[in-house]
Amino acid sequence: MNRAAGIRIWRASGSDLAHHYAIRHRVFVVEQRALEVTDIDARDVERSTIHVLAAHGLQVAGTVRLYPLRDGWWQGDRLAVLASHRSTMVGAELVRFAVATAAARGGHRMRAQIQLANVRFFERLGWVRDGDPAPYCGFDHQPMLFDLAQAPDLHWPGRPATVLLEGDLEGAGPRAG
Ligand SMILES: CC(C)(COP(=O)(O)OP(=O)(O)OC[C@H]1O[C@@H](n2cnc3c(N)ncnc32)[C@H](O)[C@@H]1OP(=O)(O)O)[C@@H](O)C(=O)NCCC(=O)NCCS
Repeated sequence: MNRAAGIRIWRASGSDLAHHYAIRHRVFVVEQRALEVTDIDARDVERSTIHVLAAHGLQVAGTVRLYPLRDGWWQGDRLAVLASHRSTMVGAELVRFAVATAAARGGHRMRAQIQLANVRFFERLGWVRDGDPAPYCGFDHQPMLFDLAQAPDLHWPGRPATVLLEGDLEGAGPRAG
C-alpha cells in the first residue's frame, strides 16, 4: 500500500497563498504559540521564496517554505500539518518535496532549525544533526542538514482542481493566478 496515495503537493501562488498562511497561523501562532500575532516575516515577500501547500484529498493539510541562501545552500522552515491531518504522511511528503525542489534548482545542502520533539522525525528522513541545540523563536531547536544529492526526483501529484480548508465556510476554486 502506498501510504502517500491521496497526498498532493505543489508550489502555492495566487489565492492558494491564503491557505498556506492560514495553516501556518493555525499551527505556529494559535496551537504552538511559537510566534505572536503572525508568523509571516520578510522571507515571505522575497521573490526567491517558495511557498508549498499539501492537500489530502481535497482538503489542504500542510505547508512548508524554502529559500536559497548562498553557495548552493537552502533553508527550509514553516513545516506545519493541521492537527486533523497528522500521522498520515503529509509531513514526511512535504519534507521530501522541499528537498527535491531545492535539489532540482541546483542546491547542494539544505538546513533547518528543528524543534527538539521532531529531531527523530527528520533523522528518519535522512537529515543529520549539525551542532548543538540553540535558542530559536524562544525555545531550543536542533540545527539539522540534508545532503541534497540524496533528494528524490521532483515528481508529485499537483494541485487538485478544487481545494478546501477545514473550518472555512467557502472553499477556493481553480487557482486565481
Ligand atoms: C512534525 C509534523 C510536521 C509531522 O507531520 P505528520 O504529517 O504528522 O508526520 P507524518 O505522518 O508524515 O509522519 C511520518 C512518520 O514519522 C513519524 N513521526 C511524526 N512525527 C514525529 C515526531 N515528532 N517524532 C518522531 N516520529 C514522528 C510518524 O509516526 C510516521 O511514522 P511511521 O512511518 O512509522 O508511521 C507535525 O506533527 C506538525 O505539523 N507539528 C506541529 C508543527 C511542527 O512541529 N512543525 C515542525 C517544526 S520543526
